[in-house]
Amino acid sequence: MRMKMKMNSPAITLEFFRHLLKKDRCMNTGKLGFFLLWLLCFTSIFIFFFLYSPNPFFRATRRQEEQPSQNVLIVKSNKYDEQCDLFTGRWIPDLQGSLYTNWSCPTIPDSKNCGKYGRKDSDFVYWRWKPDQCELPRFDPKTFLTFFRGKKLAFIGDSVARNQMESLLCLLSQEETPTDTYKDVEDRFRTWYFPSYSFTLMVLWTKFLVMGEERMINGSLSGVFDLHLDKVDGKWADKLPGVDYAIVSEAHWFFRKNYLYEGDMLIGCVFCNEPNVTDLGLGFAIRMAFRTTLKFINACKECRNLVTLLRTFSPSHFENGTWNTGGNCNRTSPLSEVGLNLGGTEWELRTIQVEEVERARKKGEKRGNKFKALDVTRAMLMRPDGHPGSHWNNKGMEGYNDCVHWCLPGPIDAWNDFLMPVLS
Ligand SMILES: *[C@@H]1O[C@H](CO)[C@@H](O)[C@H](O)[C@H]1NC(C)=O
Ligand SMILES: *[C@@H]1O[C@H](CO)[C@@H](O)[C@H](O)[C@H]1NC(C)=O
Ligand SMILES: *[C@@H]1O[C@H](CO)[C@@H](O)[C@H](O)[C@H]1NC(C)=O
Ligand SMILES: *[C@@H]1O[C@H](CO)[C@@H](O)[C@H](O)[C@H]1NC(C)=O
Ligand SMILES: *[C@@H]1O[C@H](CO)[C@@H](O)[C@H](O)[C@H]1NC(C)=O
Repeated sequence: MRMKMKMNSPAITLEFFRHLLKKDRCMNTGKLGFFLLWLLCFTSIFIFFFLYSPNPFFRATRRQEEQPSQNVLIVKSNKYDEQCDLFTGRWIPDLQGSLYTNWSCPTIPDSKNCGKYGRKDSDFVYWRWKPDQCELPRFDPKTFLTFFRGKKLAFIGDSVARNQMESLLCLLSQEETPTDTYKDVEDRFRTWYFPSYSFTLMVLWTKFLVMGEERMINGSLSGVFDLHLDKVDGKWADKLPGVDYAIVSEAHWFFRKNYLYEGDMLIGCVFCNEPNVTDLGLGFAIRMAFRTTLKFINACKECRNLVTLLRTFSPSHFENGTWNTGGNCNRTSPLSEVGLNLGGTEWELRTIQVEEVERARKKGEKRGNKFKALDVTRAMLMRPDGHPGSHWNNKGMEGYNDCVHWCLPGPIDAWNDFLMPVLS
């Protein structure tokens, strides 16, 4: 992994970064980080791609077999089995497809509107997640809005957090058209309101969850950050009081050279190669950022009965290259469990995140705060077919494929299917 990192000089990444800022505003700034992380382009993923070759016949027969279970789903739809591990399962064919399309959801941003940008195969929408031990109920906007009546739900994180918010917005807008109540200059903080249900949906943007300052080198931004692992980023933290449900996530911005601080002392770095500074590793940086974040949430005096979900690592799927060497993701069907690689960095980061949320859960019990994992990593490792690839508004960035974010509609909608069973 480190080797891959070095192949991409900071100058290239920096140029890419500027490019985005100047030429593709509507793509949203969070995107920057994701392209930067493509540098890493996990080799582990490549291995499992080669292990699996989709067999169309298998799929056609499967579709029929699965038909009866859909009826079962309807009968059971409001009962959540608390013992069931929702996050271990497989993707099965689903004739119903998505609850919305790019016609019925006008808020899909161009960066995720894959159909509009030429994605012809639509099979990737016709799958649903089937936990091994139970059924995952289909998302029902009315049930959701009724459950969350009068509440405030905030997604806290980068542009993948934003991606999930956009999916939820589409799902809910099938029931009621929300009003767009707040948008900051850079469109990083956004609030939507569903008047009939007094439900507020927010996204609070942050690169690292903790404080991160970009280093200036010779008067220009370097793409290298100083991270204060013991201080949360005040921009989201200030908005936490009043939030009832917080869905925190982060990871991709950590895939770059960063310097780590605790108590304003330099304690090490990540993706660096300097004799006098210790590389403490990506896992350490992510662990400490989440520990600090969850500790802060637990100690928040103005927060009442806050429920926090930690959404685990969302994998990217570059094949045959990295983001800047023509890497692509044009598969058209999911991987089976057979092809799943749980030995790589992605699974390691997911495990760290699950450990940290468990640690916070134990501490939070005494204070009435709840912490749970929205453990999507395993399901998403199986969905190389769900990314925009070349099908996004890439003006000024032709040739760059997005194998980090997820098409709307698409498999990311399942993250919101999980919300009711996990939260109720
Ligand atoms: C929706 O996607 C289709 C292709 O699936 C495309 O032809 C159409 O232009 C898109 N419409 C909108 C409003 O984005
Ligand atoms: C900063 O500028 C000086 C003089 O122009 C140059 O020698 C040096 O290499 C530059 N440093 C970096 C990190 O680019
Ligand atoms: C580490 O060494 C580099 C030069 O190799 C120097 O610029 C930097 O300030 C040193 N950092 C620390 C923390 O001593
Ligand atoms: C990657 O390259 C291999 C061999 O050249 C090819 O078979 C495969 O289709 C490529 N994958 C994608 C997603 O283009
Ligand atoms: C994937 O896209 C690349 C170009 O972006 C193309 O060269 C390749 O043939 C495609 N692979 C498949 C399997 O369609």
